[in-house]
Amino acid sequence: MRACLRDRRLGRNFRHVGSADEFEAAEPLDPRWQPFWGTERWSLLWLEPPEHTRIRKLVAAAFTPRSVEALREPCAELARELLPVGRFDLLRDFAQPYSIAVICRLLGVPTDRGRDLLDWSHAMVKMYELDTTEAQAEAATAAAAEFRDYVVSLIEERRREPRDDLVTRLVEARVEGERLSDAQIVSTIIVLLNAGHEATVNTLGNGILALLHHRDEWERLLTGEVDPAAAIEELIRWDPPLQLFERWVLEDGVEIAGQPVRRGAKVALLFGAANRDPRVFDDPDALDAGRPNAAEHIGFGGGIHVCIGAPLARIELAAALGALVERVPGLSLVEEPRRNRAFVIWGLEGLSVET
Ligand code: HEM
Repeated sequence: MRACLRDRRLGRNFRHVGSADEFEAAEPLDPRWQPFWGTERWSLLWLEPPEHTRIRKLVAAAFTPRSVEALREPCAELARELLPVGRFDLLRDFAQPYSIAVICRLLGVPTDRGRDLLDWSHAMVKMYELDTTEAQAEAATAAAAEFRDYVVSLIEERRREPRDDLVTRLVEARVEGERLSDAQIVSTIIVLLNAGHEATVNTLGNGILALLHHRDEWERLLTGEVDPAAAIEELIRWDPPLQLFERWVLEDGVEIAGQPVRRGAKVALLFGAANRDPRVFDDPDALDAGRPNAAEHIGFGGGIHVCIGAPLARIELAAALGALVERVPGLSLVEEPRRNRAFVIWGLEGLSVET
């Protein structure tokens, strides 16, 4: 899997090396969903070098380790503040508002727009699934248009009045004399929000469910034997929130695990399977909150598309798990949750718990 992620002959996009006819599985983009694909045009997730290299450098110049580190304390405070007690839905009543509050803090978006961000993001990520319906595509397109208009107004505001936030830093970022265009900033903000919050929410849902099913592992957190930051790595390994990413085969002569794959084919990389690879992890199906090499999981990807938000996700998730351990040690499951009906963005419909 790592070799595939690093192989430059496998790409997220083929347009820089060939036409859609050569890449048979590529469906033509439906013009009705143009506003959606327009906002995705400059998303790092779809770009390949040299565009990817240029945009990623500029985004990295704005989304710096320092700006992420500055969120450590706010994350811990928000997690403690937003954690309910009694009977509640861990996703709806904690993970979602928390993750949106963190992303709003990062971007410098007022939290009263949090609900809109959440609705837009939910509608838009349906386009990444394998079986998107027409109604979902329509909703995603409407959401993308609203989201774009909102971000454009935010960019204008920050240009007039710079602040200490990511939108301002993206507006001001310069690398070797280059800067991001407004369309590139819009795509970047949308991908940071969508890629960021859905995965963190589902890590908490999948992860807390795993711990409640494996009470001994939860106990290891309560006694302090295992640190929340270490447990997060194992939770991402054991039940990752993103299951599948695709790559196009851009050149002839590619072999994957000894199997030839022709140019133009599309390869599905199954992250959940790679995370249970017995050649990397001893007893891979066991949940071991203190697993020494858990951080070798593939959950954040690898190669040039490796998750740019991983340092933030780690801080944010460890703070949330830390708050749960400290504040609600008696947390228990009210009923078995149901899986959401998505595959790529892998999570639960809800997680009813009580403290
Ligand atoms: C547990 C949480 C997260 C997981 C498991 C995760 C996972 C991933 C993975 C697997 C990729 C690579 C996709 C590929 O190879 O095609 C990726 C890319 C990305 N992630 Fe994350 N992510 C998480 C949180 C975040 C957060 C919090 C942010 C931002 C605030 C973020 C922003 C991004 C972006 C912008 C990319 C595209 C990078 C590129 O293509 O150069 N992610 N993420």
